Amino acid sequence: MHRCTSCGVATARWAGRCPACGEWNALREEAVAVAAERAGTGDPATTVALCAVDVSGAAPCPTGLTELDRVLGGGLVPGSVTLLGGEPGVGKSTLLLQVLRSVALTGAVVVLVSAEESAAQVRLRAERLGPVPPTLLLLEATDVRAVGRCAAETTAALVVVDSIQAVADPDVVGLPGGVPQVRACAEYLVRVAKVDQVPFVLVGHVTKDGALAGPRVLEHLVDTVMTVEGDRHHALRMVRATKHRFGPTGELGLFTMGEAGLAAVTDPHSLLLGDRRPGTPGSAVLPAMEGQRALLVEIQALWAPSPPSSPPRRSAQGVDSRRLALLLAVLEQHGGVVLGHTDVFASAVGGIRVTEPAADLALALALASAVTGRALPVDVVAFGEVGLGGEIRQVPHAPRRLSEAARIGFRRALVPASCPDGPDGMELVRVASVEEAVVVALTDEHRGERRALRVTA
Ligand code: TYD
Ligand code: MG
Repeated sequence: MHRCTSCGVATARWAGRCPACGEWNALREEAVAVAAERAGTGDPATTVALCAVDVSGAAPCPTGLTELDRVLGGGLVPGSVTLLGGEPGVGKSTLLLQVLRSVALTGAVVVLVSAEESAAQVRLRAERLGPVPPTLLLLEATDVRAVGRCAAETTAALVVVDSIQAVADPDVVGLPGGVPQVRACAEYLVRVAKVDQVPFVLVGHVTKDGALAGPRVLEHLVDTVMTVEGDRHHALRMVRATKHRFGPTGELGLFTMGEAGLAAVTDPHSLLLGDRRPGTPGSAVLPAMEGQRALLVEIQALWAPSPPSSPPRRSAQGVDSRRLALLLAVLEQHGGVVLGHTDVFASAVGGIRVTEPAADLALALALASAVTGRALPVDVVAFGEVGLGGEIRQVPHAPRRLSEAARIGFRRALVPASCPDGPDGMELVRVASVEEAVVVALTDEHRGERRALRVTA
């Protein structure tokens, strides 16, 4: 049998490239002796009735950080392993230290394994967050076996390993952080977690393109994969689960990084819409969905003539650059908004990222508004996917988007034609095409201004 050292898939025949993950030269031969193994002394092949399986141990234990518990669907499950990824400096160590403090304050023993930072560094960081409870224990170690022993000896209620790339298994050759080491250490810690019924959280570094460093098999080994995202220059930090065996994925936890660590954001709108200047061209408000939660996000656009000798620039921040290019083409073909030789900038305000297609209409309107120099009415939100033919397509969770927009004080919404009715006090303007949306939002049809829109920036 051949096993991929990157994703762990097994294949019968050797190939230069892994059929599952596409890595080159990753397949290694492994000996198998199925019959001998079956006859051996492994686990007994005893089945149980699924309905009789004990589930009492699977209840999540709250971390005490409500925003994080929401993402986790209640908290950390005993015996589970969670991988927390994120760029350097985004706040992974800070977040986990806060979790450790919070659990330790209930009187439980918790362990932080610091394989990267010195004990003094960790203590200094911990003290920024508040008094350090005596049941928060520190293990300065890089040997993964020491982590396993420590978990058993301290009967810890939670173990955090910072980071999985910095610990190593003495029986495995290779440098810490390399594929064989990361895989062996994670496999070992998963076994320890299951045997001791302790939740483990492993910090995982990410590569430049945002993927978790190390073998892809890491994500398969653990029960939950969470990421902390955020723009270094903004205080906002977003935590979400991309894989979760014990609950929903896609839930968003919002924090701001401040002087005393991460604070839960209770009112995201004052953060996201607080500095909005109504009446400014190039701005549209989108009721975006993050998990089950609607968030109002300002989408902005700006254009400027490109230098004559250079190609037009397209810059997207917090919005999908491919959607931006697509919407510019659709606006030109079907919306009567022609941009010509111009640089275009688009962004989602506040350090948030919106990638859902529902953002199309708001982004298209922000672009059209920037080009025409006309502002959208202040009380309008817009959502809908834009198709290549310029048609506005329906998107999920329309009622939730509309209720949240109404709650914040918006009174009108530009929505796809099939959108169900919104809450009281929210007037729906159903639009079938981008052109219609642009006309409705930016011109006064009664004055026959429709043609005036055919501007070239
Ligand atoms: P850190 O948790 O060390 O990030 P990671 O483990 O993901 O690399 O956080 C680093 C940043 O957070 C650093 O720039 C300092 C900042 N920070 C604060 O602003 N306030 C605080 O209370 C703490 C502890 C850190
Ligand atoms: Mg760190």
